Amino acid sequence: MAVKIKIRSSKWYEGLDNASHRSYLRAVGFSDEDFSKPLMAVVAAWSEIGPCNYHTLELAKYVKEGVKEAGGVALTAPTIVVNDGINMGTPGMRYSLISRDLIADSIEAQLNSHGVDGWVGIGGCDKTQPGIMMAMVRLNLPAVYLYGGTAEAGWLGEQELTVEDVFEAVGAVSAGKMTEEDLRRYEYEVFPTYGTCQGLFTANTMAMLGEALGLSLLGSASPPATTGRRRAYAVESGRALLRVAELGIRPRHIVTYDAIYNAAVTLFATAGSTNAILHLLAIAHEAGVSFTLKDFDEISKKVPVIAALRPAGPYAMQDLDRIGGVPRILKKLYKAGLLRPEAVTVEGEPLGKLLDRWQPPAVPESGILYDVEKPYKPYSGIRILWGNLAPNGAVMKIGAAGALRFEGKALPFDDEAEAFKAVTRGEVKPGHVVVIRYVGPKGAPGMPEMLKVTAAIVGAGLGESVALVTDGRFSGATRGIMVGHVAPEAAVGGPIALVQQGDRVVIDGEAGLLKLDVPDEELERRRKSWSPPKPNYAGGLLAKYAALVQQADKGAVTTPSPLYVDY
Ligand code: FES
Repeated sequence: MAVKIKIRSSKWYEGLDNASHRSYLRAVGFSDEDFSKPLMAVVAAWSEIGPCNYHTLELAKYVKEGVKEAGGVALTAPTIVVNDGINMGTPGMRYSLISRDLIADSIEAQLNSHGVDGWVGIGGCDKTQPGIMMAMVRLNLPAVYLYGGTAEAGWLGEQELTVEDVFEAVGAVSAGKMTEEDLRRYEYEVFPTYGTCQGLFTANTMAMLGEALGLSLLGSASPPATTGRRRAYAVESGRALLRVAELGIRPRHIVTYDAIYNAAVTLFATAGSTNAILHLLAIAHEAGVSFTLKDFDEISKKVPVIAALRPAGPYAMQDLDRIGGVPRILKKLYKAGLLRPEAVTVEGEPLGKLLDRWQPPAVPESGILYDVEKPYKPYSGIRILWGNLAPNGAVMKIGAAGALRFEGKALPFDDEAEAFKAVTRGEVKPGHVVVIRYVGPKGAPGMPEMLKVTAAIVGAGLGESVALVTDGRFSGATRGIMVGHVAPEAAVGGPIALVQQGDRVVIDGEAGLLKLDVPDEELERRRKSWSPPKPNYAGGLLAKYAALVQQADKGAVTTPSPLYVDY
């Protein structure tokens, strides 16, 4: 059967009955010829609030050029951005994860309303990317993902700055280890250009995984936002959309178990953001692929870290770009037999075939990348834990010193702000396990990231002597001994709600264990006196989200099952 590129726009825009529909597009410049072409959308997550997605409307123009050259017609249709750097540590952070699902929903509503035949999604800041990828598999129309690109790193003399430095400097000033004047210099110098946060934090992690999943063009994740190569990838993504549509390849052909497997391997091999686990679970859910924390657990045990990118190492995304970008990582993993090369990509060919052809630039790896056989670190940067403190799982970020095991005394807080104050007042001491709860998907709601607290801990010089356990999330810029995504969360009666000050907590990445060292009878006694808290919000989006959202081990999704698609 011939592949249809005009998959459904004819139903909206052809025939006498649809004259009124056509008149709306004639009003924005459509000709008769335009109506004969496949109708494509360019969904730019766009906002001037912050540098991350500042330029995506500009990139959309280049994508449209590529679509036009390849024989289609394209219209730009923006979606929202929630900036995770600006809302960090504020009540606004509750909207961060929520915005991921809101973006996916808004794209579904917008593209399904107007009968487009395919689309290119342009993401930038953290949640815009998984939101777009979720919509790609949910709608299952021909689609290509394009990243808006990283900001360039700032410089203070010889020191390469990323935004992680500014967050940690706040903690260092509170601890008397840095002057306010130095902090101000960081603030001014850290973002010399627009684009996303510069390390392998959540945004750059998700962009990298776009390539590993096969949803974006190979090599398109690393060029900084301001480069000509980024604009060239935008044009090429427009052309690729028409190509992939002609081939009849849809996002659900691409996002299979094998593709998510490849993304998980890449995530662990680079010590990328723990948020990616949540997002990959959600993307798998939308695609109808069964991929669980158990799968992540198995993969995490066989992959070492081969990239020295921040926060695990000293380098920024622009440094990786200089030596060939994400394909250089993927090729190493592929050659070591760690990837599933048959996974199909948006380029119409399997990942292995693309990597066979790809040649690294003739520049040394300069300590930015390592070989699988001689890795940067012998273990993956993330582990999955279970135990009586997280019966349905938790995600551990391993600290820079590589300690896989930590035992300490619990210091519980029902609120992130209180925990932050305790760190800055010097109440958190070596050997403490700071527990921040009631900040899960339903509780906060929206699983806020704890970067302000984790950066304050590191800034106070406690990064390797204090651990943090939470039913919330971590920023990709977080480092230290961190356990998040604890499921079930406190707000639904998860055991994390029962922790009391001084309880012994055991974190063991090697054994995959998160244990509250308290007898079962005592926990039962505490449970009897526990009652669910009043929801934080009675109305608005936060209340709607809290009513719908599932737990972290299910990707904190809000849709009951994948959308059945029949085009
Ligand atoms: Fe947007 Fe970091 S705040 S990528």
